[in-house]
Amino acid sequence: QGMALWGGRFSSGPSPELARLSKSTQFDWRLADDDLAGSRAHARALAGAGLLTSEELKTMEEVLDRLQDQVDSGAFTPNESDEDEATALERGLIALAGDQLGGKLRAGRSRNDQIAALIRIWLRRHARIVAGQILALARALMDQCRKAGSTVMPGRTHMQHAQPVLLSHQLLAHVWPLIRDLERLVDWDKRADASPYGSGALAGNTLGLDPEAVAHELGFSRVSANSIDGTSARDVVAEFSFIAAMVGVDVSRLAEEVIIWNTQEFAFVRLDDAYSTGSSIMPQKKNPDIAELARGKAGRLIGDLTGLMATLKGLPTAYARDLQEDKEAVFDQVDTLEVLLPAFTGMIATLTFNKNRLEDQAPTGFALATDLAEWLVKQGVPFRHAHELSGACVKLAEGRGCELWDLTDQDFIREFRNYLPDDQAPKVREVLSAAGSVQARNGRGGTSPGRVAEQMGEAGKLLDDL
Ligand code: ARG
Repeated sequence: QGMALWGGRFSSGPSPELARLSKSTQFDWRLADDDLAGSRAHARALAGAGLLTSEELKTMEEVLDRLQDQVDSGAFTPNESDEDEATALERGLIALAGDQLGGKLRAGRSRNDQIAALIRIWLRRHARIVAGQILALARALMDQCRKAGSTVMPGRTHMQHAQPVLLSHQLLAHVWPLIRDLERLVDWDKRADASPYGSGALAGNTLGLDPEAVAHELGFSRVSANSIDGTSARDVVAEFSFIAAMVGVDVSRLAEEVIIWNTQEFAFVRLDDAYSTGSSIMPQKKNPDIAELARGKAGRLIGDLTGLMATLKGLPTAYARDLQEDKEAVFDQVDTLEVLLPAFTGMIATLTFNKNRLEDQAPTGFALATDLAEWLVKQGVPFRHAHELSGACVKLAEGRGCELWDLTDQDFIREFRNYLPDDQAPKVREVLSAAGSVQARNGRGGTSPGRVAEQMGEAGKLLDDL
């Protein structure tokens, strides 16, 4: 065994089987840059505590810069015997600085506080990247809302025609969850913003190092208040993982709409050629693969969260090696989202809606039955009875194979005769259009054009301020 970080009390190196199991460089090497940044800050803390001379600090910083260059160029990489990224970097440091100076850097820190700090630093950086991508998706949806204008479409519950809604209202129903995901990321960052550096293995350090200075150098505004918590808590990682899974679910819900809307039966949307795929055998096919991959990857994002939660459950307090398992879960989530979101946004931005079809379908399937009942309520009919009367009209139309507005004046007069004068009954036609229906839903949060414009203003402002 070349360069294990221990040895004093061991008479042999690890068995090959243990080394293979223990190894994490294949996934944690991506933390090397942040580890080197931590090492620079730690070296200055050691100098501040009188444990490195200013001469030694200068050499140490030069060596760390050279090591960074070698890492950047790929000239230095982990080798077979390096257990983790920290082991590899110590080997690299000693190769450049020699054993005397290189051997000093490890004083007062442990891989336990190091790794707890590194995962936070890495996640905070990528949370910003992912947030930028979510923002781009929300903005693409907002652009589609503007293009949609006053287009109406069938609003559905249980997948059945329910009531007409504005297309923009339906799209905004996907913007709000994304806004909340962005708010979650912003809020999460407050909890991630505490540096475990200085917690040592679990109990803190004896060397008089200044953890505040290290924290500030690494972009944290404060230090973990408890060294045991600092090294062993992974709720911050789990909370990030939940948000990533939630983003996956929110995107998947929209993906499912696109998939359904893109079917021949619905024909609500057309996918841009650059954001859809063909079939190797069926020349006519144009498939919504991006949306399907989004739906599929949501399962994987949830799986990462579930696996992480199961790992954390029942761990004894303070560091245990199980905690190494936190990384692959969130790395996979970030890798997944960072590839998925730009493609998904491209698909949304280039989607074209078949407005005529949406408008034609909006009032069908007796979607105006509620409007009919509510019109009767406005004429003084108790809602229980109005509901019955509207249902009777639906039954009549269904029997004839026509829509509500195809019923004759005589039909309405007959149906309403116990409640309304004859000249009043046919006026119900005023509300038997999709445009009239949405116009009437003008309470706060409703689908009337005025309320939706108000809603777009609010969503747009939140997105600008985030
Ligand atoms: N590679 C470990 C992790 O990712 C950190 C090393 C701590 N190992 C240890 N034996 N204390 O969690």
